[in-house]
Parts: sequence; C-alpha cells; structure tokens
Amino acid sequence: MSGPDLTVSIGSMVMKNPVMVASGVFGYGDEFAGLADYGELGALVLKTITKEPRAGTPPACRTAETPAGMVNAIGLENVGLEAFLREKLPAALEHGTNVIASIAGDRPEEFAACARALDGADVAALEINISCPNVKKGGLAFGVDAESSAEVTAAVRAATKKPIIPKLTPNVTDIASIAVACEQAGADAISLTNTFSALVIDVERRRPLLAAGTGGLSGPAIRPAAVYRVYKVARAVRVPVVGMGGIWNSGDALEFILAGASAVAVGTALYADPQAPHRVLRGLRHYLEQHGLARLTDLVGGVTLHGG
Ligand SMILES: Cc1cc2nc3c(=O)[nH]c(=O)nc-3n(C[C@H](O)[C@H](O)[C@H](O)COP(=O)(O)O)c2cc1C
Repeated sequence: MSGPDLTVSIGSMVMKNPVMVASGVFGYGDEFAGLADYGELGALVLKTITKEPRAGTPPACRTAETPAGMVNAIGLENVGLEAFLREKLPAALEHGTNVIASIAGDRPEEFAACARALDGADVAALEINISCPNVKKGGLAFGVDAESSAEVTAAVRAATKKPIIPKLTPNVTDIASIAVACEQAGADAISLTNTFSALVIDVERRRPLLAAGTGGLSGPAIRPAAVYRVYKVARAVRVPVVGMGGIWNSGDALEFILAGASAVAVGTALYADPQAPHRVLRGLRHYLEQHGLARLTDLVGGVTLHGG
C-alpha cells in the first residue's frame, strides 16, 4: 500500500484528498495557473457566479490588512453564468481535478437558474453561497435564517442532480439550526465558514476604509471561531462538513478535522503562499503516517467538548 487513505466523498463527488481551495480567493483558477500543480488537490472551488455578470463594489478600496487577517468587500464581482461556461470553466478543468462552481443570486429562482445551467456542465458539485443578500428580506444574507437558507437549498436541489453544498455565514446566533435546515432541504454537505462581518475605520479621514463601508474578515484571526462553528455544525448534521477559516498549515487543517470536518478549504493563505494547500496536504499525510493511522476518516470529529 502506498500511504494512508485520504479520499473523501460528497454525494457522487469523490475527492482523492480532503484539501480544497476556497471560493473567491482562487478566482476562476486562471490567476493561479503555473504557480503550483492544483490538480493535486481534492477540489477547486471557483469564485461565486451569478446569472448575469456583476461589477461588484467600487474598485477604489476593496481590501484592508488587519492583525492576522484581512477584510474584503468585493461584492460578488463576476463574469456571469454564460462567460463562466464558455471561458472560465474549460480553463479551470485544465487543472485536472474536481471543479466546484459556487453560485449566488438575489432570489432562490436565480440560484436555481444557475444550478440548472450547470447541471449538464462538467462541474463535480455546486457550492451555494447563501452569504449574499436576499432582496426580499431587505438585503440580509439568505444564510442568516433557517427558512431562507432552506428555501434556496430546496430550489437548487430541484434544479440539479449534482451534489450541493450550502456555504454558511458565521454571522448568526445558531449556525447549527441553519445547517440542519439545509440538510433537510437536500444538501449533500455543508461548508463553513464564510467571512465574519467587519469594519475598518480610517481615523485620519474619519470614515470607513473600504469603499463599501463594511466587509468580511478572513485569515488566521477567525480560525478558532470557525473551528468552533464547524464543531457545532458537525454534531448537528449527518452529511459531511467542509471546514475553512484561516487555514495556513496542516495543524490548522487538523483542528477543523478533529472538530468534525471531512474536508478543508484554504482561502486567504493562498495570497501569502500559492502552495499553502500543498503544504497542508503533505502535512496531513505525514501526520497520519506518524500516528500510524490508515485513514483520514478515523480522525474526523475525534475531539469532544464536555459541556459546550
Ligand atoms: C478576497 C476574498 C474573496 C472571497 N470571495 C468569495 C466568494 O466569491 N464566494 C464565497 O463563497 N466566499 C468568498 N470568500 C470567502 C472564502 O471563500 C472563505 O470562506 C473565507 O475567506 C474564510 O477562509 P480563509 O480565512 O481561509 O480565507 C472570499 C474571501 C476573500 C478573502
């Protein structure tokens, strides 16, 4: 045998290992072409797309560095479904591993339209970005309540046979109840977390630093908070959980796995090191070998909290 078994399945999607890249940070994959062999990873989640192209927030100031992290407000800038299918997806498939499309919309029907169009495409699964604003609910994210999260998940479920993975926002009181609602609406896995709501202030100009006002915090600063949410969700659902938030190395990834994640995604770390996911993968393999473990799945959810 050649080393430990790292495979992970989400519905019909089989990943050779649990390491993914997180949506948005990797773009459509073209920006990173040539920087590493991304075909070695379990799956690549591409930037969220909507039915029509979007310009996103004003380009003036979209990101800010913070202690151990960054705040971004890109505002779902994307090329739209048609250009995605024509240009971006074929290029992403060149990497030679599972490609997961991330979809969003202002209404459940828009999510469903994207899912329907992607059902015949060569994507391995769909991530549902329910962190985007729900126009019917005054701009709050779909993912802030169980009912609208389930509504979107059910609409996508009815539109595709591909595995579907709602991606949760951490900016809620009871994330486990939202995960359960998504599972009951037909989700094959749950991914979390998206970024944490944040505000950076320019004290000289006495106004928000980012053009959009507020943004989302990512990077190591959010990791313990994300690990805890993964723990809560993994204990509430039966489907696999994809964990992310500040993963820089294999130790970070192991925290998510021990908390209950079956797979992990690397986001912001890609900006510091385009080979961060590869380091994570090597480290995971090494850890299993060192501890005499034959399968990664033996570690999933291995840590239990007493009384919390
Ligand atoms: C610049 C940037 C753009 C992002 N764009 C998206 C996106 O389009 N869709 C999405 O679901 N998440 C998006 N995210 C969130 C990440 O996928 C990830 O959930 C989050 O950043 C936490 O992981 P990290 O700390 O490893 O980056 C973005 C994050 C960053 C930093």
